Amino acid sequence: MSFKDNYQAEFARAAEKAFPVAYPDTPSSNLNAESIFGMLGLPKDHKMGRFCLPVFRFAKELKTKPPEIAQELCDAMNDILAAESSDIRCEAVGGFVNARIDPANMARSTLSDILEQGERFGLSDEGKGQTTLVEYSSCNIAKPFGIGHLRTTIIGNSLRLIFQKLGHTVVGINYLGDWGTQFGKLIVAYRLWGEGLDLTENAVEKLYGLYVRFHKEAEDNPELDEQAREAFKQLEEGNAEEQKLWERFRTLSLKEFERIYALMGIEFDWITGEAFLNDKMEPVIERFRKAGLTSISRGAEVVDLHDEQLPPLLLRKADGATLYATRDLAGLLYRWDTWYFSLMLYVVATSQSDHFKQVFKAVDLLEQAEGIPEEERASARVAHVDFGWVKFMDTATGSAQMMSTRKGNIVFLEDVIAKAKALARERILQRNPDTEDIDKTAHMIGVGAIVFSQFMAKRQKDISFDWDQVLSFEGETGPYLQYTHARLCSLLRHYEAEVPSAFDPAYLGGEEEQRVVELLYDFPRALHDAAGNFDPYYIGTHLLKLSAAFNKVYQRKDEQGKIDKIISEDHAERTQARIVLVKAVQTVVGEGLRLLGIPAPQQM
Ligand code: ARG
Repeated sequence: MSFKDNYQAEFARAAEKAFPVAYPDTPSSNLNAESIFGMLGLPKDHKMGRFCLPVFRFAKELKTKPPEIAQELCDAMNDILAAESSDIRCEAVGGFVNARIDPANMARSTLSDILEQGERFGLSDEGKGQTTLVEYSSCNIAKPFGIGHLRTTIIGNSLRLIFQKLGHTVVGINYLGDWGTQFGKLIVAYRLWGEGLDLTENAVEKLYGLYVRFHKEAEDNPELDEQAREAFKQLEEGNAEEQKLWERFRTLSLKEFERIYALMGIEFDWITGEAFLNDKMEPVIERFRKAGLTSISRGAEVVDLHDEQLPPLLLRKADGATLYATRDLAGLLYRWDTWYFSLMLYVVATSQSDHFKQVFKAVDLLEQAEGIPEEERASARVAHVDFGWVKFMDTATGSAQMMSTRKGNIVFLEDVIAKAKALARERILQRNPDTEDIDKTAHMIGVGAIVFSQFMAKRQKDISFDWDQVLSFEGETGPYLQYTHARLCSLLRHYEAEVPSAFDPAYLGGEEEQRVVELLYDFPRALHDAAGNFDPYYIGTHLLKLSAAFNKVYQRKDEQGKIDKIISEDHAERTQARIVLVKAVQTVVGEGLRLLGIPAPQQM
């Protein structure tokens, strides 16, 4: 465990005091709360307690059987905890000291905290003074924003929000693919077939069409490739005509991308691109030369990474052209000089992991050679946040199709959003045709479905995107979470009065309510797990658990088999306590959805 909650801190302090009482004169009596915290685990079943301390490791030193140690320690701890009027009680079970928390007190303090803090619940200042850079989306100019860039966009956007919540200064970077030999091809194609095109609308699709045509025609006419190389050379040398075309392609593309980002609610702090680094590469290459790290291999200038079991990193090709990797080196060092970051994340597909290994290693070698101490090295603060494929299930054929940009069978993200919205609208009309502002709600649900689909599995795993599945209002989906949230909002509307600030937690003593309170309490831990693993998935699964737990309260039946309604006129006080619970769940689910980048409708 890395995130220490208040109960764990209290428990560990009690254990620290209990050891010398139970076992004076042994090395274990010197244990401190910090090391005890490090030993805590979770009981197999959450019903056994919130967390536990396994004592097996002390058996040898104390020459005592684990269950006896657990009992001894448990008794001493309970005395200490009782004297402090703590909410924690210990229970010895086998070789474990299990911690139980008084449910009513836990409910009181957790729910009061959430009511008081609202969406600030879980906010932390632990990232204060730390600048965290998150690079994501980074799609390519003059190519459609395809589903291939969906996962990076969604994961990165969420990580930006999560790190902000934890108090980091975050810079969300969109590093556009706006440089490279493909622009030579595009310029040639444009001159041959594009001059007459009206690019005021669907520019990207049209430019992409030119690009696809170029590849087709170049198969029979290799002359075209030669022209493309020449055009790119002109561009690199700053020739005004080529430069102007490139700028136009870039502006038109960016305009379209920004429309899609707005549709999805995606934000950045800095939109940049590879071209920005054009004048920053030579000084970096020079630094590598000075450090004695470059060599010439078949005319190309390379950084040898042989000792690291990696292929050499190409700085310059034999014809003098720089590469994708050269720009990444320059970009990393530029960002380091600019922000002196604590952490920089590159949210990029797993297929690029060798590339990032090379880049990070090359910078590491450079910093070593320059005598920069380890704690001052940029290379020690970067991470490739990789992720698997999105397999787009074609419902008609039932087959999974992959994307290929060159051949042109690409799934356009904008079409995906439109389809999601249309399907969401159908469902709303079926379920609740009286929904206000159906168009807006359908959009929110469509986006929610797409976004959450990316969190169905941990990021390293491939996922398959299936329309029926992602849009379902039941099951592990975005719409299910949104629906739960909307239902909570509707309960609050029905309650009509203000959410009470005082309530009797005894009414929340049921097993179902306790589970909800535990999951609310654990929301900050889910945030930490998400940040620590660079994976919003942890928030997503936590919200699913919380929603499922709440739905058990919501759907519970009384002895006569009738739904035990949350709001009941005959039980004013019980209703009050339950409404507090409802408000707290609504707050946490709403905030969790925000952190994932999912809009939360009030009604659906
Ligand atoms: N534009 C690249 C692509 O679409 C991704 C860029 C990733 N980021 C980086 N720093 N190399 O494949």
